[in-house]
Amino acid sequence: MNANGKEQSTEKTITLFVDNKKKLPGALLPILHDIQQHFGYIPQPAIVIIAQGLQQTEAEIYGVISFYAHFHLEQPGRHIIEVCRGEACQAMGSTALEQAIKSQLGVDFGQTTADKNYTLEPVYCLGNCACSPSIKVGRKTYGRMSSSKFAKLIKTLSLYQLNLGEER
Ligand code: FES
Repeated sequence: MNANGKEQSTEKTITLFVDNKKKLPGALLPILHDIQQHFGYIPQPAIVIIAQGLQQTEAEIYGVISFYAHFHLEQPGRHIIEVCRGEACQAMGSTALEQAIKSQLGVDFGQTTADKNYTLEPVYCLGNCACSPSIKVGRKTYGRMSSSKFAKLIKTLSLYQLNLGEER
């Protein structure tokens, strides 16, 4: 499929997601979730299509997307790493852990590593307070995390990718 065909197909898919839910009360968030689940992020044409479908302004749609750290306007890294900044995790040293993770990956919150492997996001409770400090990588939550455990986890994830010979 050429670039134009791909763009049209993206727009068609987004339009389907909008049409499916636009009549629901509070349709915007479910529509954004559907789009992000499908593409892994919110592609640029979605803002116009959603605005037209919901009869809202593009600024309103953009405002909601940028309010929630969960939504991405660019393709995120292969793994999304969420670091909990909730109270229970803070009480167990998550601030130092957060700094160690940022320094190991060389990125701040909201950024993706240069190799496109990891995107770092803050989160404010992973429902795993009893095992603080917690992080989540993809769908898996890891408790009692430390900077040394994190270094091992990243090594394992990198080796796994190498073994699969994945390319992006
Ligand atoms: S505060 Fe971190 S898991 Fe609940």
